[in-house]
Amino acid sequence: MEQYRDILDNISTGVLGLDEDLLVTSLNAAGEALLKTSSARCLGTHARQLVLDNGEWLANLEQVSSTRTPLTRRGMPLTLHTGQEIHIDLTVTPLAPSGEEHNSRLLVELQPVDRLLKISREEGLLHAQETTRAVIRGLAHEIKNPLGGVRGAAQLLARELPNEDLAEYTRVIIREADRLRDLVDRLLGPHQQLQLSPLNIHEILEHVRNLILAESDNRVAFIRDYDPSLPEIPGDRTQLIQVVLNIMRNAMQVAPDPQACVITLRTRSRRQFTIGTELHRLVCQVDIIDNGPGVPRELEHAIFVPMVTGRAEGTGLGLAIAQSVINHHGGLLECESEPGNTRFTLYIPMRQNDA
Ligand SMILES: Nc1ncnc2c1ncn2[C@@H]1O[C@H](COP(=O)(O)OP(=O)(O)OP(=O)(O)O)[C@@H](O)[C@H]1O
Ligand SMILES: [Mg+2]
Repeated sequence: MEQYRDILDNISTGVLGLDEDLLVTSLNAAGEALLKTSSARCLGTHARQLVLDNGEWLANLEQVSSTRTPLTRRGMPLTLHTGQEIHIDLTVTPLAPSGEEHNSRLLVELQPVDRLLKISREEGLLHAQETTRAVIRGLAHEIKNPLGGVRGAAQLLARELPNEDLAEYTRVIIREADRLRDLVDRLLGPHQQLQLSPLNIHEILEHVRNLILAESDNRVAFIRDYDPSLPEIPGDRTQLIQVVLNIMRNAMQVAPDPQACVITLRTRSRRQFTIGTELHRLVCQVDIIDNGPGVPRELEHAIFVPMVTGRAEGTGLGLAIAQSVINHHGGLLECESEPGNTRFTLYIPMRQNDA
């Protein structure tokens, strides 16, 4: 028996034993870790007490207990008593009932599933971005040409109008044409050449931190974890400030209350790091982490795509611009998100080290 105990406590699947009345008879180490409890605390308690939101959980257990048919559920959400929500693959197997019981004892297997949203460089991200940009460039061209014509014609028309009352109409045409042109320009991203100069990334982060503090009336809290040994990076100061500002502003905007918003800024150096097909000797890594609700699931594959937004007043350009600037720097922008923990990571190569 002892040897089984050993195996049970060392496998990565959580294993929970329940008796006919759904009282806990055993829980292995992985199960304790997963459910954030100890077997000492939960032995003899009812299965419903293991989790906070127990509707679905209990229904599954009761079903197997009474029908004696095994069941597997994939990606089931569970709210732990700590309030944390996790997702598990659940397998419930009935064991032969003892004596007169009508219900089965149950063997419950719990496997955590990774619901972390990962938008990573492995997924052909760079390639997809190039495609998107090519489409936008083509579209922008097709829009801007006729738009210039429309605006010019409206100006000519305005001059020929017999009375001033009608001029309001041509003004609307010109104003809307300008608005559309600005939108297309922003879609195209910053078109100025990069003005590269040696930059201290911490100076940029501090600058933007001060902007966010000012915008939020000092309500957003910051945790700073800087690597002071980071050398200067070659970058465009104005454009990198825009990148960091767009990311931090998003964090502030998605927070239910600025008072509750905590942004962590972390810098590290990375050696032998590949971006696209290029291996860099030294790369500067910047993490901007927030404790907000996380990227909405329906947007998870699209947040970097221009005009994709989860906010009523959003234009959906902030991250697209950030990404395009970082790409111009030969770098990479990634995102990982789950509720309470969203991380945007910038990787910027230190070119002088490549020489
Ligand atoms: N830190 C974050 N946490 C949760 N969701 C985020 C975060 N950052 C971005 N998002 C989601 O990604 C969407 C796109 O962000 P993006 O900055 O590109 O556009 P926007 O903020 O909607 O508009 P804009 O920045 O142009 O004003 C956001 O609307 C939001 O739904
Ligand atoms: Mg934004």
